[in-house]
Amino acid sequence: MKYGPLLFLGIFLTLASSWVGLTVIPQMQFGGLQTTKIEETGRDYPLNTWGAASKGRELYRANGCIYCHSQQVRPQGFGADIERGWGTRRSVSRDYLYDKPVFLGTMRTGPDLTNIGQRQPSVDWHLSHLYDPQITSKGSTMPPYRFLFEQRKIGAKPSPDALKLTGEFATPPGYEIVPTENAKDLVAYLLSLRADAALLEAPLGK
Ligand code: HEC
Repeated sequence: MKYGPLLFLGIFLTLASSWVGLTVIPQMQFGGLQTTKIEETGRDYPLNTWGAASKGRELYRANGCIYCHSQQVRPQGFGADIERGWGTRRSVSRDYLYDKPVFLGTMRTGPDLTNIGQRQPSVDWHLSHLYDPQITSKGSTMPPYRFLFEQRKIGAKPSPDALKLTGEFATPPGYEIVPTENAKDLVAYLLSLRADAALLEAPLGK
């Protein structure tokens, strides 16, 4: 083992340089990142998700939505994300300050959801879409999430939450489809996804 110390040094330097590159430098770049105040609204950005939306966040994770949806808008000139209306500006590290884990996503079988809360603010639309994507988006390859809904006999009064289904999706007479708490939480999370605040490092439209 004449070269023992040299070998050790080589291995040490390899591991040390990757630790510096993957841990120390990113920590120096992003470790001190904080929320910022949006001048027009006077509110901090980003806000943490809480209540129903934070429960919905766990459901988004548990149901594998990330396999088909990304949450990252590429800058103008690096693809057509902004033209498609997926975002009002590019995504930056500050957007993910409270996200643990971050749902960047790697596949876009479906559209990017970074700004879905602004693009599609209707609760009814989201509930019908989750119950069966064919209702709102004929030909969609997104799977239905019917287990987030309950089919039950209409009691004394129909539920105000019941989905308004017609045609081939209509429920048998005397029955109604109501969203479970999970469905409502998931929609609360989707509506909380808004990246419409202009930031110093990411002005709108860029
Ligand atoms: C197998 C892939 C797949 C999975 C898994 C999937 N989606 Fe989708 N999603 C799509 C496709 C394709 C579309 C576009 C057609 C449509 O609107 O249904 C879409 C559209 C959407 C839209 C409307 C986007 C827009 O811009 O109009 C929302 C919201 C959405 N999905 C939410 C979810 C949520 C929440 C989950 C997890 C519970 C999920 N998706 C799981 C494929 C998927």
